[in-house]
Amino acid sequence: MTNIIKIPNELQQDIISFCYDDTSSEWMHGFDADKVELVRKSVCNNGRKFIYCHETKFHEQIKIIEQEYLNAIGLSSDAIVPISSDEKNPHYPHFIGCIFKDTQKSSGVQTHIDVRKNGWYQMRINYLIQKPDTGGEPIINRTVINVNENQSWNVWASEHKHSALPVTEDKMRITVSFGFFVNPKYVDEVKTQICNVVDVPVNYLI
Ligand SMILES: [Fe+2]
Repeated sequence: MTNIIKIPNELQQDIISFCYDDTSSEWMHGFDADKVELVRKSVCNNGRKFIYCHETKFHEQIKIIEQEYLNAIGLSSDAIVPISSDEKNPHYPHFIGCIFKDTQKSSGVQTHIDVRKNGWYQMRINYLIQKPDTGGEPIINRTVINVNENQSWNVWASEHKHSALPVTEDKMRITVSFGFFVNPKYVDEVKTQICNVVDVPVNYLI
């Protein structure tokens, strides 16, 4: 049964305002990647910033959405678990991410692949809260994913190369990215269920 999870509009608007107005030092930028001890700092682009949800006032509300996703997927913790706020790079807890215009350096999200944890795959559900006027499209395995504002897609981040195009005008791309670990034994079940909970399922080649 289809049960596409939606982030309440009011929360989306609050997150958008936060992304423009908040000046917290918890934001991580491509150009200050040292702050998160990024293994891949040399390929972390400019023109993006992100902040862990648990470092924001939205922590509890995001936990509720996380639980809605888990309930809708309907599998046990033998199959799928959220990436908790205790996790550290290279396993990213849920975050709010922005891509913005940066004409001086490479920007957007660089092509990369994330890492498994103890053999479990990293799968992310990304929710597009604000779509830029130009650019920002996600690319998975060299395919551009068409996603609209207030829609979600998933990416098997430890299995598929992925990136996002630069944003070339003032309106930022704003997403909430929910991270999960998936037991490889249950990939088929998760694939089936994910089609019911995200707007744009991306499951090919796995
Ligand atoms: Fe990634």
